Amino acid sequence: MTDMHSDAFVFFGATGDLAYKKIFPALQSMIRRGSLNIPIIAVARGAGGVEQIQDRAQKSLEEYGGGVDKDAFATFCSLLEYVGGDYQNAATYEAIGQKLGTAERPVYYLAIPPSMFPPVIKALGTSGCSRQGRVIIEKPFGHDVASAQLLNHTLGEVFDESRIFRIDHYLGKNPVHNLLFFRFANSFLEPFWNRNYVECVKITMAEQFGVAGRGRFYEETGAIRDVVQNHLLQVVALVAMEPPTSGESDALRDEVAKVFRSTRPVGKDDIIRGQFKGYRDEEGVAPDSQVETFAEMQLHIDSWRWDGVPFFIRAGKCMPVTATEVVVQLRRPPQKVFGGLELESGQPNYVKFRLGPDVGIAIGARVKKHGKGPYGRDIELDVVREPTGDDVDPYEHLLIDAIAGEPFLFARQDVVEVAWGIVEPVLDPSSTPVYEYEQGTWGPKEADDFVAPHGGWPVPRPIG
Ligand code: BG6
Repeated sequence: MTDMHSDAFVFFGATGDLAYKKIFPALQSMIRRGSLNIPIIAVARGAGGVEQIQDRAQKSLEEYGGGVDKDAFATFCSLLEYVGGDYQNAATYEAIGQKLGTAERPVYYLAIPPSMFPPVIKALGTSGCSRQGRVIIEKPFGHDVASAQLLNHTLGEVFDESRIFRIDHYLGKNPVHNLLFFRFANSFLEPFWNRNYVECVKITMAEQFGVAGRGRFYEETGAIRDVVQNHLLQVVALVAMEPPTSGESDALRDEVAKVFRSTRPVGKDDIIRGQFKGYRDEEGVAPDSQVETFAEMQLHIDSWRWDGVPFFIRAGKCMPVTATEVVVQLRRPPQKVFGGLELESGQPNYVKFRLGPDVGIAIGARVKKHGKGPYGRDIELDVVREPTGDDVDPYEHLLIDAIAGEPFLFARQDVVEVAWGIVEPVLDPSSTPVYEYEQGTWGPKEADDFVAPHGGWPVPRPIG
């Protein structure tokens, strides 16, 4: 263990949803790969004992962890300790302190509702439990610029920035990394990766399912706060950023921050919000809710590289498919050498990054059809198609890094705040209309208007 390495893993919210769906499976997998051998302290409200957590972990692994691995689970149980109690009560922190024993660098994962972050962070400080430790929090990091600043201030009173790990799980996804890798591990993209050759960028994050019982949460969030301000803006940054000056985490995050600082705040004419029919019947949703379950925006990045190139992003629930992809669309050739019909009917060249559920990179091109005459057809060259399902889960990836003290994959304070600034003008649901759309469609018909002059939205489909 290095001196950077945490020496205890403490997670609040051990009986909650995030622990059930993500944390227990990640812990089992880490143990199986030999990357976790420190005490695990589960903290939850309520009086149950360690057996209750073991039961819950077992169920979680059966449902979300690909089954219980007997040996790994036995190790997990031997590392597991439990503290039950109110998060606002000093006795809870005393008990945590006792369980920590001589550990000096615990890592605290706050898998709890964001409203509970401030009291828990403060109590970790006043009780002395913070020690030389770290804290992991999960997005949303605030709900606008001011609340993000306040949260950062609260965090900063107890943990310095190098000890704060903000999880945006998109940054733990391998295909998202591959975007960065593919751009900067090759030289052939660079000559055309700019306003001279790129016409526009189209990013889709479509989900076939609805709010899946999370109506109450979604009412306070909406698509912009849920996935645009964080996941999609991070993807935009990876497409648009300049090469980092080194592989250091701050070099990368400096470039992300520069992209966001050059991005104009979204104007009211740059957004279309939609709501699927039936959303208002969900439990916890207001009968007259104006919250968006679909958002489409055009972003303008005022930089030397991207001036005048629109970045279109759309994210929605109840779409025809579940798919996340980025299409970097190039300008058409300047002359119709083979006749007008030929070029206008075909697709422009593009580079496509398929980020999920299947993963790959492809290049769109035109070739001549067999036979006489200048007729062409569209083809897609597979650069890579990764097998699905055999990758390290983003949560595992992120927890390993947080425990090791490696900040590369985590969101930095200034980046979070400046990202809020981009969407702030359109966060209030009464600021722009919300259009209804049928479930299983690509959002309201108004959504086609932005991209129509650029050939419309491509239909997301797997590579190959
Ligand atoms: C979460 C959002 O952050 O990301 C969810 O809260 C969304 O609404 C999810 O469904 C998508 O993540 P993934 O990894 O399943 O694409």
